[in-house]
Amino acid sequence: MRKIYLVGFMGCGKSALGRRLSYLLKMPYYDMDHEIVRQQGMTIPQIFEKYGEARFREIETEFLKNFRDEACIISTGGGVAVNAENRKIMRRSGLVFFLDATFEDIYKRIQHDQNRPIVQSSTKEELEKLYHYRRKFYRDVGHIQVLTEGRAIRQILEYLVFQVKRLKGER
Ligand code: S3P
Repeated sequence: MRKIYLVGFMGCGKSALGRRLSYLLKMPYYDMDHEIVRQQGMTIPQIFEKYGEARFREIETEFLKNFRDEACIISTGGGVAVNAENRKIMRRSGLVFFLDATFEDIYKRIQHDQNRPIVQSSTKEELEKLYHYRRKFYRDVGHIQVLTEGRAIRQILEYLVFQVKRLKGER
């Protein structure tokens, strides 16, 4: 069964698009962070605080390895693509879309977020550096890169649906 993964930096629209795509394609949708929060019984900031970021990264990999074999849509956390094993799992088990947004758009959306420990502990400059560092991993893992700048959600969705239908049966 093939999954659809949405990857990209925090605030690029993975969850908003994932939910809508699920409706349009009639496929179940899972937000990886929500699933981890549910499994662990703790919020993301609590997991970071109690166990540290390194443990959170292990939990992400465990999630990808063990998640049910079902055709579904998964929006991933912004740090997931940095790990080579995670990239391999995603590319093998599904179709990966890299949602490519500009740093300025992203920063507007995430700057006041209390639920993202990386945002809480970083300056704007540090986040921008991280954004550029991670882009190559998103590009590496993505089968398809989706430029979101200046596009309405509806247009992006149409493009995603078009690509999924085009690739159906070929992959
Ligand atoms: C993270 C992104 C978050 C979440 C955690 C760490 C990151 O997910 O997994 O706060 O390292 O970029 P979103 O991309 O959904 O915000």
